[in-house]
Amino acid sequence: MVQLSHLVTSLPPFHFANAKQRIADKQAQGVDVVNLSVGDPDLPAPPQVVERLCTAMRDGENHRYPEYRGMRALHEAIAGWFERRFGVALTPEQEIMPLIGSKEGLVYSAACVLNAGDIALTPDPYYPVYISSVTSVNAQPYMLPMREESGYLPDLEGIPTEVLAKARLLWLNYPNNPTAACADRAFFEKAVDFARRYNLVIVHDMAYAEVHYEGFRPLSLLEIPGAKDVAVELHSLSKTYNMAGFRIGMLVGNRELVNAVALLKSNIDSGIFRPVQYAAIEALNLPESWIQERNAIYQHRRDLMLEGCRALGMRVQPSKAGLYIWAGVPEGYTSRQFADYLFDKMGIFLTPGTNFGPAGEGYVRISLTTPESRIQIALDRMKRAFVS
Ligand SMILES: Cc1ncc(COP(=O)(O)O)c(C=O)c1O
Repeated sequence: MVQLSHLVTSLPPFHFANAKQRIADKQAQGVDVVNLSVGDPDLPAPPQVVERLCTAMRDGENHRYPEYRGMRALHEAIAGWFERRFGVALTPEQEIMPLIGSKEGLVYSAACVLNAGDIALTPDPYYPVYISSVTSVNAQPYMLPMREESGYLPDLEGIPTEVLAKARLLWLNYPNNPTAACADRAFFEKAVDFARRYNLVIVHDMAYAEVHYEGFRPLSLLEIPGAKDVAVELHSLSKTYNMAGFRIGMLVGNRELVNAVALLKSNIDSGIFRPVQYAAIEALNLPESWIQERNAIYQHRRDLMLEGCRALGMRVQPSKAGLYIWAGVPEGYTSRQFADYLFDKMGIFLTPGTNFGPAGEGYVRISLTTPESRIQIALDRMKRAFVS
């Protein structure tokens, strides 16, 4: 029998890998499952992007190993997008590292900052990779519960001094998955100051930067003066341009950490397939109107779902950004019981809040990556069960 490492035997199954199997099993029983769980954009990538990918594919030069740190033209496209979108200048090659999606950037960042025994301050609820990337280097997460009444912002000042003595990293994620909360400038300023005082690195995960509603524009942490001294930020084309399957994102900000990630990554993989890099350049140069039109579709879905949830007596807030609705479960259910009930009895698959940590108890996460017609089917099924 193969002796597996502590690293791998201590990892839980990745929820969404497991979810696919549960859905497939249900469908095999003839159930028409409405999937409101994973944040996997159902809308297609922009046609210009697909075209650029196909053209680049036909050039044999692009079939060779790509550049470890990404093409210069991609760095320039990222820097241009960042300047236009956030008003922040980034130095190509020094403050930018293209990635195969932002997920790997979480793992690399943790590995570049943490030693065994260190602590990573982890707002709870959290995207599960924050935990596995910390425990995989024998460091420990320290949970910072985020509560509805404090706008899902963690209480940094309440962290015990003995924890701060061992803390090296602070994860932040706004627009937040799963709560859909957004951070304001005052919180980001406080976080940068806090990181400076306690010698922490902030890894701000901004995978949902460009999914926003009603004219709201989420802030980049790097807009805060001095943030680059203590922080890096992760961006992704997965949700921004419906390019989840392309696998492309980037780490930007503090140059020491960006360079460390580049070093680690070059020892593990060999860069991003060039046609995907060309496709990303095309996407990053799309007009702002493309984002607005796509977000209008999500906004309709959001409004339909919010109205439906309220009619069922569920507690929901209109999200200003992100792909999710974070809904309070009806009285008498835990998060898991409610999610299992909807799945077993109604073929509606959504994610219990506790999949994102203990502070998620009492909530479920509903994804908006499903067409309105399917959302309506889910709401009709729920209405039949809950409203007599
Ligand atoms: C908060 C958050 N961060 C990072 C990711 C990873 O995205 P990707 O690797 O596709 O860029 C996701 C994906 O769902 C996410 O929700």
